[in-house]
Amino acid sequence: MRVSILSLTAFAVAIEAQELYLTTTGYAARPQCTKQSTPKYHFQPFSYTLNETVRYATSVPSPTTTRTYAPAYTDIAKHLTTTWSTSTWGSWVPEQTVISATDTDDPYGQAAWSSMWLQADLEDYTTTGLFSTTVSSTPVPSSELVLPPRDYFGPTDCYNFPKDFVFGVAGSAAQIEGAVALEGRSPSLLEKLAPGNKPKDYVTNENYFLYKQDIQRLAAMGVEYYSFTIPWTRILPFALPGTPVNQQAIDHYDDLITAVLDAGMTPVVTMLHFDSPLMFRASENYTIRPDIGYINAGYQNETFVDAFVNYGKVLLAHYADRVPIWVTFNEPLLYAFNFKGVDHVVKAHAQVYHFYHEELKAKGRIGIKFNDNFGVPKDPKNASHVLAADRFQEMQLGFFANPIFLGKQYPKSVLKTLPGAKPLNDSELAYIKGTSDFFGIDPYTATVVSPADEGIEACASNKSTSNSLFPYCVNQETKNVYGWNIGYRSQSYVYITPTHFREYLFYLWNTFRHPILVSEFGFPVHAEASRDLSDQLFDSPRSVYYLSFMSEILKSIYEDGVHVMGALAWSFVDNWEFGDYSQQFGIQAVNRTTQERSYKKSFFDLVDFVKSRQPKKA
Ligand SMILES: *[C@@H]1O[C@H](CO)[C@@H](O)[C@H](O)[C@H]1NC(C)=O
Ligand SMILES: *[C@@H]1O[C@H](CO)[C@@H](O)[C@H](O)[C@H]1NC(C)=O
Ligand SMILES: *[C@@H]1O[C@H](CO)[C@@H](O)[C@H](O)[C@H]1NC(C)=O
Ligand SMILES: *[C@@H]1O[C@H](CO)[C@@H](O)[C@H](O)[C@H]1NC(C)=O
Ligand SMILES: *[C@@H]1O[C@H](CO)[C@@H](O)[C@H](O)[C@H]1NC(C)=O
Ligand SMILES: *[C@@H]1O[C@H](CO)[C@@H](O)[C@H](O)[C@H]1NC(C)=O
Ligand SMILES: *[C@@H]1O[C@H](CO)[C@@H](O)[C@H](O)[C@H]1NC(C)=O
Repeated sequence: MRVSILSLTAFAVAIEAQELYLTTTGYAARPQCTKQSTPKYHFQPFSYTLNETVRYATSVPSPTTTRTYAPAYTDIAKHLTTTWSTSTWGSWVPEQTVISATDTDDPYGQAAWSSMWLQADLEDYTTTGLFSTTVSSTPVPSSELVLPPRDYFGPTDCYNFPKDFVFGVAGSAAQIEGAVALEGRSPSLLEKLAPGNKPKDYVTNENYFLYKQDIQRLAAMGVEYYSFTIPWTRILPFALPGTPVNQQAIDHYDDLITAVLDAGMTPVVTMLHFDSPLMFRASENYTIRPDIGYINAGYQNETFVDAFVNYGKVLLAHYADRVPIWVTFNEPLLYAFNFKGVDHVVKAHAQVYHFYHEELKAKGRIGIKFNDNFGVPKDPKNASHVLAADRFQEMQLGFFANPIFLGKQYPKSVLKTLPGAKPLNDSELAYIKGTSDFFGIDPYTATVVSPADEGIEACASNKSTSNSLFPYCVNQETKNVYGWNIGYRSQSYVYITPTHFREYLFYLWNTFRHPILVSEFGFPVHAEASRDLSDQLFDSPRSVYYLSFMSEILKSIYEDGVHVMGALAWSFVDNWEFGDYSQQFGIQAVNRTTQERSYKKSFFDLVDFVKSRQPKKA
């Protein structure tokens, strides 16, 4: 509705403007430009006037108080029915002692742990990075904090962010940590994901050792929230309930959270970001389909729900006192996509939510975050295209969000299409309803959607595996109805689509009726990785992406009445993009030889945009 009102207004303005710009109706009218002037050429003395005042990024202030959101672990442990034993394991270094460990009778001993790595059978596994212990942080020199020249065009809004707006940056463990087989971590699906010669996640950014400096660099830029993820395979190497908790991992993330708080920032923690334990895999086959993601990646395993809930409880019991915002699952669709997988995610998520608010009586917020590149109808005036877009949203989002946010049944399209789909019963719906305090969404871009050529019905009833559009049964494109790209293209699937983003926020808020956390958004600039460092750092397309999206968030809040709770930029640093380093989503670059980080221009531009729109002091 909002869109049609806007286009009517534009039409009226175009008619008014016709007298001034008479030749064509095609180019944009400029109703504000009523005065025409005539040039008056003249001579004047010349001087260089383009000197600028140098500006520096300002660090977040040091913390003065520590807020707590739940009782501390020692208090919680007393009244929980679950207790956890702890242990430590070594590091898996091929052909060294831990492999020949002698505690073969212990199901969770060193030998059992090592055998998981042997079974994982990694090609070319190496632990070789630059670091093997935690590196302490040093202050960021002010020379690195000078703001870059501004781009010529920029946002022209006059809005400020609400005072409780969560602004920050995000990253995920497997994409930055490295040290995958060190200090007790067991193999995750991601170590098996990148076959052949593709880069592995074994070393990446060595953030497992460099987290203190990485946090320091964010604080120096003035970033308030740092969103990171904790790997299940570090906390519980044997994954399942009743198996021992890895004390080294508990200590590591304890220290990381302390480092975030000491730097004056606030942590946001995601429990599962694609790195589920390898033992849940249903098969050797990790089929990758761009629209569906990684099939057979374990969420459908019968042991998954109880195991995830146990893991979630371990994290919350240890860290909920200091972490105010929690996410259970990152983009579960990409890993869960069959009926059972999603059903498991919905049920596991709900249990963790109830534990957080009812057993821990914690006072922060806990939710879930989804992927869905907003499906926009190719021809919005064609009812069948609108139905196709609705179906796309239902299968990617409504599937999870109907029960979790509204207590509503799985969508009919899902129940009718997916093999093995079963409705939730009333007591399940009542238990699942309202189990997310916010709607997390990673709205990188938009996708142009129209019905499958044979029609949705015919496609949906043809469950043949060679039917490549099944189960969505819609065409997905990146061009609009007139054949233009939907926006400026990145290195990968992301196009700059800020106006679709605003429409999307409108859709999400009015459909699922919960505050929206834009939990990831970002732009891998085309061919950035092949450019000289100084050219990589001057990343104007990424600035355009971020500032336009942030500007649309403000309009969404103030003009559409949409509650956007916050926005977390992806990613705080270039990282391992699941077998690829050429898609650089970072707002900092990394030298892969020295592990040196450099701020990109877009990082300054984004922070400057937010800082210059702080709430007015009352
Ligand atoms: C730029 O240089 C001129 C001449 O030295 C000086 O008057 C002016 O204050 C400078 N402007 C800024 C912003 O530094
Ligand atoms: C399910 O996970 C368990 C580990 O909990 C594993 O032993 C089993 O093989 C998995 N099942 C399938 C079908 O992969
Ligand atoms: C894995 O894929 C291969 C080739 O498509 C197939 O032959 C095999 O049956 C699959 N294995 C499983 C367990 O699905
Ligand atoms: C609407 O879209 C369908 C499917 O793409 C197409 O067959 C039909 O001709 C379109 N109708 C109109 C009025 O454009
Ligand atoms: C709903 O399903 C659950 C299993 O998930 C079962 O325990 C319960 O008895 C069912 N309730 C009703 C009312 O059918
Ligand atoms: C099902 O889809 C496949 C692959 O697109 C196609 O070859 C086959 O003819 C379809 N079957 C029916 C009954 O439409
Ligand atoms: C990484 O750093 C090394 C050492 O300073 C330098 O020689 C190299 O050119 C850098 N690599 C890139 C891609 O900038």
